[in-house]
Amino acid sequence: MLDRRSFLGSATALPLAAPASAQALNSVPLPAADLYGRNPDAYWQALRAQFLIPTDVVNLNVGTVGSSPRPVLKAIFDGFEQTEQMTQAASEDYPIWGYGPWEEYRKPFADFMGARVEQMAILRNCTEANSYVANGFDMKPGDEVLISDEEHGSGEMPWMLRQRRYGVVVKKFAMPKPPRNAAEILNRINDAITPKTRIIFLSHISTATGVVLPAKEIAALARSKGIVSAFDGAHAPGMIKVDLNDIGCDLYTGSMHKWLFATKGTGFLYLRDRSIMDRVWNTIATGGYDDPTRMADRYMQIGSSCIPTLMGLNAAVALANQIGMERIEARGRVLADYIHAEMVKRGAESWTSPDPYLRGAIATVNLPGVQRMDLQDWLWTNHKVRIRGGNPSKLRLATPYYMSKADIDRFLGLFDEYRKLKGIA
Ligand SMILES: Cc1ncc(COP(=O)(O)O)c(C=O)c1O
Repeated sequence: MLDRRSFLGSATALPLAAPASAQALNSVPLPAADLYGRNPDAYWQALRAQFLIPTDVVNLNVGTVGSSPRPVLKAIFDGFEQTEQMTQAASEDYPIWGYGPWEEYRKPFADFMGARVEQMAILRNCTEANSYVANGFDMKPGDEVLISDEEHGSGEMPWMLRQRRYGVVVKKFAMPKPPRNAAEILNRINDAITPKTRIIFLSHISTATGVVLPAKEIAALARSKGIVSAFDGAHAPGMIKVDLNDIGCDLYTGSMHKWLFATKGTGFLYLRDRSIMDRVWNTIATGGYDDPTRMADRYMQIGSSCIPTLMGLNAAVALANQIGMERIEARGRVLADYIHAEMVKRGAESWTSPDPYLRGAIATVNLPGVQRMDLQDWLWTNHKVRIRGGNPSKLRLATPYYMSKADIDRFLGLFDEYRKLKGIA
């Protein structure tokens, strides 16, 4: 949350780099396809150069928001130049989305996520998509939704609002910290299900710990009991390879601005099939929302929205495809495993699962005795290293593919210095 203090701090603390012009965005070539095989470090370094983040800044907090690389920014800037000429081909075409199906922007992202275009609605962020889920189903007072104690406010609050206003009951189970394996999570969910559970709504990747939940197994458990399964995948696109139709859940939401590095203001809602769509009411509506011939795009009837945003999304998908999601996922894991192991060596308590199946590119550790806000401020204000965590002493360390081992070593060295400075053992 950006409070006044941190806003003023960020406006004054660091010298600003000169902004890149739209022309300059072309000036750094992407690495040649065969460079990875010859020299993986050089390959990742060349990708690092696609990001405008100054070389002396280390951003271990992609978990909050990503930085869009040059090809994405170029697509956005070019998109504005092109669309604002108002020379669209047909007399009814205007530079806005929010009224039509816009398949040219839904399809590449749907393909990327293992879904069909008719299952995918592009929205403006994950919060909006989560609100669609929480508001969408007809539920009676007393009907239950089951969530975990690690949901983001944008996942939990839409349900809390519905509880306060309409008497739906929000039930929470405690996630183990850390979960030893998938069975431990599934048992907790199973134990919390009651005859009144209508929906299970969970993060696919926990914002609190980075644990990757066993989504496919959870969806199967829900289905076996006639319960709707919905996942908040804000952290998933661009961090791990996702195959939505393989997961088999009913609904799935997410953001593309974090790990996919797409434009801020991109989110999505996936709905498995028509039988689910027929049960999910729109939250925002304009003409076409109730057209029975339309599939997921009926949830995109939300009023005027920004086309260059979607052009940036397509460029972000193209870049991730060019690198390859397997490669991106593996790289994020190697880096997260490294930072995690180094922190554990330093006495940290791990909140990251020991089971590789439940791990992604976020490592989370708890450090009793360390005030995370003090450390976070010290790192950023004095050393241009960004981390985030939770009070009092949890650190969440997110490792995007473009980060180097040297970046992580810089953080680790600073962490050691901080502990000495504060006399922490
Ligand atoms: C799990 C989760 N859900 C939802 C959100 C909200 O995403 P957005 O800001 O794109 O609405 C976040 C953001 O950090 C998140 O971590």
